[in-house]
Amino acid sequence: MNDAPPVIECRINGRDVVLDVDPATRLSDALRDLGLTGTKVGCNAGDCGACTVLMEGQEVCACLVAVGQCAGTSITTVEGLAANGTLTALQRSFHAHGAAQCGICTPGMLIAATGLLARNAKPSKLEVEDALGGVLCRCTGYQKIVEAIRDVGKPAVATIERATTVGSSLAKVDGIPKLTGTERFGDDGVPLGALRVRVIRSPHARATFEIGDLSAFRRANPGIEAILTANDVPSNGFGIYPNIKDQPVLAAGLVRYRGDAVLALVGTPKALAAIVDRDVPIRYEVLLPVTGIAAAKASGAYQLHADRPGNILADGGVRRGDWVEAVATCAHAVAVDNETSFVEHAYIEPEAGWAIRRGDELELHVSTQTPYQHRDEVASVMELPPASIRLIPSACGGGFGGKLDLNVHAIVALAAWVTGKPVAYAYTRPESMMASTKRHPALVRVRATCAADGRLTAFWSHAELDTGAYASWGPTVANRVPVHASGPYVVPNALTRGTAYFTNAPPSGAFRGFGVPQSAIASEAAMDILADKLGMDWLEFRRLNALTAGDTTITGQRLDTSVGIVATIDAVEPYWRDWTKDAKAYNRTSKHLKRGAGIACSWYGIGNTALSNPSEMRVGIDGNGSVTLYSGAVDIGQGSNTIMVQITADALGVAPEKIRLVAGDTALTPDAGKTSASRQTFVSGKACELAALDLRRQLFVLAGAPLDLAADTSVRLLIANGEVAIETLSGTHICSLSQLAAGEDGSMLIGSGRFDPATTPLDKDGQGNPYACYGFATQVALVEVDVELGLTRVLKIAAAHDVGRAINPQQVEGQIHGGTAQGIGLALMEEFIPGRTENLHDYLIPTVGDMPEMIAMIIEDPAPDGPFGAKGVGEPALISTAPAIFGGIFKATGVRVHKIPVLPHRLLAALRMKQGAAA
Ligand code: FES
Repeated sequence: MNDAPPVIECRINGRDVVLDVDPATRLSDALRDLGLTGTKVGCNAGDCGACTVLMEGQEVCACLVAVGQCAGTSITTVEGLAANGTLTALQRSFHAHGAAQCGICTPGMLIAATGLLARNAKPSKLEVEDALGGVLCRCTGYQKIVEAIRDVGKPAVATIERATTVGSSLAKVDGIPKLTGTERFGDDGVPLGALRVRVIRSPHARATFEIGDLSAFRRANPGIEAILTANDVPSNGFGIYPNIKDQPVLAAGLVRYRGDAVLALVGTPKALAAIVDRDVPIRYEVLLPVTGIAAAKASGAYQLHADRPGNILADGGVRRGDWVEAVATCAHAVAVDNETSFVEHAYIEPEAGWAIRRGDELELHVSTQTPYQHRDEVASVMELPPASIRLIPSACGGGFGGKLDLNVHAIVALAAWVTGKPVAYAYTRPESMMASTKRHPALVRVRATCAADGRLTAFWSHAELDTGAYASWGPTVANRVPVHASGPYVVPNALTRGTAYFTNAPPSGAFRGFGVPQSAIASEAAMDILADKLGMDWLEFRRLNALTAGDTTITGQRLDTSVGIVATIDAVEPYWRDWTKDAKAYNRTSKHLKRGAGIACSWYGIGNTALSNPSEMRVGIDGNGSVTLYSGAVDIGQGSNTIMVQITADALGVAPEKIRLVAGDTALTPDAGKTSASRQTFVSGKACELAALDLRRQLFVLAGAPLDLAADTSVRLLIANGEVAIETLSGTHICSLSQLAAGEDGSMLIGSGRFDPATTPLDKDGQGNPYACYGFATQVALVEVDVELGLTRVLKIAAAHDVGRAINPQQVEGQIHGGTAQGIGLALMEEFIPGRTENLHDYLIPTVGDMPEMIAMIIEDPAPDGPFGAKGVGEPALISTAPAIFGGIFKATGVRVHKIPVLPHRLLAALRMKQGAAA
């Protein structure tokens, strides 16, 4: 009798295919094993939709379909859309609209839209939203995706005819692979036959443990090639700061949070899949965890780290003027206390990567926001010279700060080193959610005062932050919050503080805004309440107090330029007036649905706080005249690859299509620093501009062109046949490249640029210039509350952002949309609870159906130090959203909820309390 499983025949992308695998295999896995890695695995539970394919013309999640169900069916994956290299109209529309940011959701989106358009060529907005309801996107806020689908077949979005490219909505220079499924993310491009890793993680928040007989375990599990424990890690501690390496790669007898890595199994996928966690010989002794800030502060509390008394990781603040005196003489004072929750990054691409050993060197391919830092960190853990490790970033399927910490890196490196074989590791979704860093939960207390004329006189705040089990980015967050706490206003007297406490929770790290969003929720509520005490319009109160050029911040920094907060307030004013009026009219007749408009302002220092923050770039030209930008700035979806090319093109004086990009490879590109703190456009963009200008000057010199014209970007370079021609009023000057000697990388000439924004350290009172420039924003939200169910729906958002100069307006809009979407999640639905919300059906992020109409307005108040005046927008995009929503809820209902997110039960409780008080 033949008990071999039947082979399954089906058609995939128009070809007959035989699937000779276990019929229970997930279709998503089978497709990926066939090399069709455009089908992405984001959750393996049907929650994210990244693996959506068409099966008999119907959209299905391939992770929920067993191969056995595919016999005789026809399946279309994203690779099957473009025929003979020609994109479909839908793919072209995505490209033109900038509908793919990181691109990890894009295959699922394209397939879902393809299925819809096959049934309905002219879908309504609602029909598009319905079709996309099962596919999550964490980057775009969905608006450009919906527009792209509805605009299929229409002429492309207007391209701007200009002599220069800065200011144009150039389509992504790296956009096409995101649309065809050929982009390589962390778990794509893994060498055939690579071993895999499975990490056994602590199910307990705090425990000691012993590992039993691993030899016997290994004998019982053929296919396991190595088992790594703490004893195998040469230097078993990593972290962000040179002096804090408190997180073990693999725990050594003690786990400090649910998700701490205990040991790593390295073997064939089949062998790893066969192992049940409880069969791994680990004996835990469970201990009482420190849960929450109050427990961490309690007298006699268990100390998570012996060198951190009081469980305090970081404590700092800002002192300016005389807070006490100002309070004594104020006309009005308010107090606001808020509590926020852990928030999960929920990038659709879980952490992933692979490594291969080449003699005494290691090559790492990982999804990362910071290649050089991660290379150095792996070198430190492995006790290898950094130069022996080459880190080649894969495409990054979303980061938002969560891929600034080491995740798979050290373990795949160690496993590849030990086994001598290529080793890959991709977190499962639950593993990603339990093990990765989170947004800091914060207890924020604010006290603010103003004079009778409405001018702010003093501001006090204390943000206490739950930093979890390890330091991660806690000190950065604790330092950034007090600097920003008072908002973008003139405040003569301030006392602000941030304190981060260790607890037995997941490490809190970097997440879009570095703590500023949590703090702004409380401070903006205080502005609303002060305005109400004065009987003043909320917008007018903010405009009265807003910083303008020449004003001084609470750190004593005088802002002379690029202070566009008033312009953002002016831009949203019509929406504020109209929506406020409309809401009042609506509420006169509506019973259980009530509407309200809220407003919030924000500011955000671009780059690191009071620290050196450099970026380096190189631009080369070879003998044929090909220009190459060597950029170490990792594009995590926000579009920095395109931005860098645009800046380089204009600064050099050539068209952007003349520039080849070599991006983010530690062996080929200089260090551009981290993709975080909204710094890449400002810092690395400036380095690009300087590198291009350096090359341009060299060409001018060689061509004998007047050097004083090198800075005049209207003088363009014409490159053809190995010659560069520079046309000036004094004639055409030619530089012949072929006569020059080529360098190592083939370049005849190399331009170099380095930029480190001017900042100063903060003194003991937090006084100094922590940032070279700031982004400013004002958002207005129109919300609708069902007062019987406690449900809040955001109907519209108007968002005005001062970005200095929009290098690429479409991408700026994309950042505003995406940040706003995450702000809605923070405000209304996202709350990570260890052990309870470790998947994407219990942890909710905004779907397309949760998104309001978003009106993004770009304000350009140039930053003199920035490239062509540009600043950053990635993080500013999120900060104002939640407080604007909460203001809207208050206008609609008369209540404020102080535990965030404002889930229905919390809002209902607040409404009932108000009703009880009124009765
Ligand atoms: Fe949708 Fe990144 S573009 S998840």
